[in-house]
Amino acid sequence: MEESYKKLVDSKSKSLLKKHLTKKIFDKLKTKTTPTFNSTLMHCISSGLCNHDSGVGLYAPDAEAYKVFADLFDPVIEEYHKGFKKTDKQPKPCFGQGKDFENLDPDGNFIVSTRVRCGRAVKGFPFNPCLRERDYLELESKLCKALMTLTCEHKGIYMPLTGMDEAVQKQLIDDHFLFKQGDRFLAAAGASRFWPTGRGIFLNEPKDFMVWCNEEDHIRIIAMEKGGDLGRVYNRMVAGVEALGKEIEFSRDERLGYLTFCPTNLGTSIRASVHIKLPNLMDQPEELQKLAKEYRLQIRGTSGEHSEAEDGVHDISNQRRIGLTEYEIIKEMHDGIKGLIEAECKAKAA
Ligand code: ARG
Repeated sequence: MEESYKKLVDSKSKSLLKKHLTKKIFDKLKTKTTPTFNSTLMHCISSGLCNHDSGVGLYAPDAEAYKVFADLFDPVIEEYHKGFKKTDKQPKPCFGQGKDFENLDPDGNFIVSTRVRCGRAVKGFPFNPCLRERDYLELESKLCKALMTLTCEHKGIYMPLTGMDEAVQKQLIDDHFLFKQGDRFLAAAGASRFWPTGRGIFLNEPKDFMVWCNEEDHIRIIAMEKGGDLGRVYNRMVAGVEALGKEIEFSRDERLGYLTFCPTNLGTSIRASVHIKLPNLMDQPEELQKLAKEYRLQIRGTSGEHSEAEDGVHDISNQRRIGLTEYEIIKEMHDGIKGLIEAECKAKAA
C-alpha cells in the first residue's frame, strides 16, 4: 500500500483522493480497522490507487468506515458535494410533490430522456468489499421478495444476470436500462467479486421503472422515460422507493443520510439526469462548463460516467446529493436545466 500511495502522490492524478490523502492522514489511518467487518484504509482507497484518472477514487467498505476513516472521507465529501461540512447534517427525508416541477421541454426540442435514481443499502449488511458470496445471494433474495409486492405501474419481473441471454443483456444495456459490466473503478474497489452472482435487474411492464440488485449499491431504484417530464419521473421513483421501504429497512446515518458505497451518493443519493442536446452551447464548452458550475450540474457522456457524448447528446445531472432534502435536490437540478435551455436559446439567437 505504501508503494501505491507513493505512486499516487508522484502522479498527475486530479482525484479528490490524491488531494486529501496527505501523508499525515495516511500515516494516521493506515493501521485502523472498522470494528465489525475489520475493513481497512486499503479497502477505501484501492480504486483510486489503481485508477489515477478517478475523479474521486474513494469508497466505503462498510458503514463504519465513514467514521473510522472520517479524516479522509469528510474533506472529500465536503469538496464533492460543494460545501457539506463535518458539522453539517443531512435533513430528514422530504420528497415533496413531483407536480411542482413543470415539464422542462414540452415541445421536445432539447431533452431526449429524463431519469431519476437513488441508491439504498440494506441495514445490517456491509458494502461490496466485505460481502461474501452468500451475502450477495441473501441480499438478492430479500430484494426479490420486496419487489414481488409491487403493484400497478411498478409491477414487473426480476431478471438475474446469472444465465441471462447475451443478446438480452446487450439490448438492456443499449437501452440504458441495465448497468454495464466490468467497470474498472468498481472492480478495483472490490465490487465485482463473485460476479454475476446475486446481480440482476427488475423491470416493470412499461419499462419505465427498474431496480438494480447488487451492482455498486445493494439497491438502485430508477425511473426514466423519453422527454422532459421530470416531475412524473420523480414521482414514479419516489413511489417505488416508498413501497420497497415498507419491506426492507434501509441503512441511514444521522449525519450522512442514506448510506451508499461511494461517498458521492450519500445523503439523498439522488441523481436526476437528462439526456440533452444543446448544440449551440456545446460549441462554447467554456461557457457551458461555467454555467454547469454555477448551477451545480455535472456533465457526463451519453453512456454514463467515464463515457463520451454521442451525436451531441450529453448526460447532465445534479452534482450535490447531500445537505439538501430530496425535493431541494430535484429543484436544484430542474432550475439548472431550465437555465441551460434558456442559455441555449440565447446562444442560438446570437
Ligand atoms: N470512483 C469513480 C471515480 O472516482 C467513480 C466516482 C463516482 N461514481 C460512482 N459511480 N460512484 O471516478
